[in-house]
Amino acid sequence: MTALQKIAITGKGGVGKTTLSALLAYIYARQGRNVIAIDADPAGGLAGALGFPPELAENLTPISEMEDLIYERTGAKPGSFGGFFSLTPRVDDIPDRFSVTHNGIRLLKLGTLEKGGTGCLCPENALLKALVTHLLLYRDEVLIMDMEAGVEHLGRATAQAVDAMLVVVEPGKRSVEVAERIRELAGDLGLKRLYVVGNKVRSDADRTFIAERSPLPVVGYLSASSAVIEADLRGIAVYEAAPQAVEEAHAIVRRLEQEAEAPGG
Ligand SMILES: Nc1ncnc2c1ncn2[C@@H]1O[C@H](COP(=O)(O)OP(=O)(O)O)[C@@H](O)[C@H]1O
Ligand SMILES: [Mg+2]
Repeated sequence: MTALQKIAITGKGGVGKTTLSALLAYIYARQGRNVIAIDADPAGGLAGALGFPPELAENLTPISEMEDLIYERTGAKPGSFGGFFSLTPRVDDIPDRFSVTHNGIRLLKLGTLEKGGTGCLCPENALLKALVTHLLLYRDEVLIMDMEAGVEHLGRATAQAVDAMLVVVEPGKRSVEVAERIRELAGDLGLKRLYVVGNKVRSDADRTFIAERSPLPVVGYLSASSAVIEADLRGIAVYEAAPQAVEEAHAIVRRLEQEAEAPGG
């Protein structure tokens, strides 16, 4: 069996993080693995990419907005500063209680984690941090975390529990620059295996553009595809609408598995 368990996806807004996250979650679920998909981007959207029916997605409240839960677990109201609250709230029951499941994929939505250079010491952050740590360190299913562009909200311990961090890049300088910044931050955190996935590639020239500029090893590409756009337009699962993207994502998974088995790193 593979060592690859916890995969985080990051990159510039709009590059295809959510699309890739949905494809990976689907592939692992099809392999019979237990999968938890974490929507950790405040922009959201993973439920849609996974084809969750609206009536199911409606039941999915971001943890950061669960005021009663935050109060119950930390002893302080969300948004309060400077008071006393628990930095080690109980979280082990949260993934099962507050997630919804569709086609064998469990989905949990985190909501907005306040960052800022000062490091917001507020109860909602304490709860989310404890939850992410728990998900990465103490649960044994495959975890696919759809993040925003950045790794700041991973602490050192949690960053080291990430088996692979995928930075999605599209043919264009801006997303490559974002990947470069993420590489620097990730190095500080001690993230081990960082890779680029090229998305929306239209040609070999696009692949070459990404391969030549990527600050990280490239583990694969997803082609620009009208089926992927169509899935988003029609609100259906990307894995149902875009079989070619599933195939390409499969190749990425195989490559990641090989990397995970390779010594070193
Ligand atoms: N390979 C692709 N081909 C065509 N469109 C894509 C592809 N990947 C993503 N998109 C589209 O780009 C938009 C942004 O994708 P999304 O996965 O939501 O990005 P992010 O999560 O990084 O913001 C969506 O409309 C999506 O359908
Ligand atoms: Mg997204």
